[in-house]
Amino acid sequence: MYQVRHGFPENFLWGGAIAALQAEGAWNEDGKGASVADFNVMLDDKKENATISNERESLHTVAGVNYPKRRGVDFYHRYKEDIALMAEMGFGCFRTSIAWARIFPNGDDEQPNEAGLKFYDDLFDECRKYGIEPIVTLSHYEMPVNLVLKYDGWLNRKTIAFWKRYCETVFARYANKVKYWIPFNQINLLDFYSLGFLKKPEEKELSATYQAVHHQLLAQALAKKIALKYAPDCKLGVMLCDKTTYPATCKPEDVSLAVFKNKMEYLCSDVAIWGEYPRFALRAFEDNGIHLDFEPEDAELLKKYTMDFMSFSYYMTVAISAEKNNLFGYDFTRNPYISASDWGWPIDPVGFRTALNLYYDRYRCPIMVLENGLGAADTVEPDGSIHDSYRIDYLRDHIAQMKEAVRDGVDLIAYTMWSPMDIVSCGSSEMKKRYGLIYVDLDDEGNDTCARTRKDSFYWYKHVIETNGEEL
Ligand code: BG6
Repeated sequence: MYQVRHGFPENFLWGGAIAALQAEGAWNEDGKGASVADFNVMLDDKKENATISNERESLHTVAGVNYPKRRGVDFYHRYKEDIALMAEMGFGCFRTSIAWARIFPNGDDEQPNEAGLKFYDDLFDECRKYGIEPIVTLSHYEMPVNLVLKYDGWLNRKTIAFWKRYCETVFARYANKVKYWIPFNQINLLDFYSLGFLKKPEEKELSATYQAVHHQLLAQALAKKIALKYAPDCKLGVMLCDKTTYPATCKPEDVSLAVFKNKMEYLCSDVAIWGEYPRFALRAFEDNGIHLDFEPEDAELLKKYTMDFMSFSYYMTVAISAEKNNLFGYDFTRNPYISASDWGWPIDPVGFRTALNLYYDRYRCPIMVLENGLGAADTVEPDGSIHDSYRIDYLRDHIAQMKEAVRDGVDLIAYTMWSPMDIVSCGSSEMKKRYGLIYVDLDDEGNDTCARTRKDSFYWYKHVIETNGEEL
């Protein structure tokens, strides 16, 4: 007998997500090498040569320039306190990433860095101590910078060999501690990070971008192959940055472009879950002069080692018009029916249910939502409390829509909000753009104590977890 599902499943994984590059700090401690993230500066502090040299001759770090990701929020030294707070909220899972350069400082080293491996051993043990399931990303915009300078990052097929070594090392080491793995964060954000953000002008071409992504897709399949060797029961998921696209009007051209734009965004998950490139994408490549080099063995690898689940981050939807845009463009139209955050990010809880349904209908596999949250400035009251009702409203509205999607029949197995504690913003490197349920006493210049304080949203989310999402 068919039944409508009411409420979240019994074993639903509630939790939160962070990434090493924004939280750990300790950028050059215990043998860690520099990653591309260690060269991100405050956006309003951008100076000539503050980032990695474009000539790829040397690294430039400029005295007096603010590199917030190097200090993060000191998670490297405070992870026990943070995990204890997550346990207090009743987390069933916690998503974080391994900083590749902590394990292989230069990316192409022969031997891994034992101190880096030990850090994640201790971190995962700490999670397990509280019954928290770690969900681990292998690459969250943290490529060792040497791989970018020396080999052009993912543009070069050789990088896959270094990735294999990294995968062999981490799967062998953590096979009995970690069940859920995400090879790449937001793999569909193509031209942002796939080349390790170091680009010669001619490398901005679409062919180069998609070639780099093709190498990442192969690397993802290889991760599955290697994982199965060490932990046959582990599960790997493809992860997208969801940007469900609406047509700006009901003009057929706008509607059609929105449909194809969404299909193009699904390219990476299509390959990861179906095990082959979708034909419409091959056609789009042909029409736009995009040429990819495939090796004869690539198709078999992609077909054989597919991902077990679908996952994505959900922050916003976007609107598009055929007049201003094409399949590869990102010139979005403002959607007059939805509001936006103080950082201009559209807020669209209803679109969340739509996205969940679209993914489930397309892939019919378990789904994890691995990021969702509101970046906002918080005020600390004189008595030290933080009343972040805006964050509670945002999360409540989104979780309510997620619940609707579960009733729609979507096989949702986990939700990790972004982020349990405040961390450095990925895009702008600001501290004041706060997503946390736990306040971290740190400003944009790196002053203050890094002390942790529970916000109102901390108690609210704790109750949501206690009631398995029944009371929002
Ligand atoms: C996601 C990234 O795209 O957005 C996270 O995976 C990031 O790393 C999050 O922190 C929010 O973006 P931002 O720029 O506000 O930190």
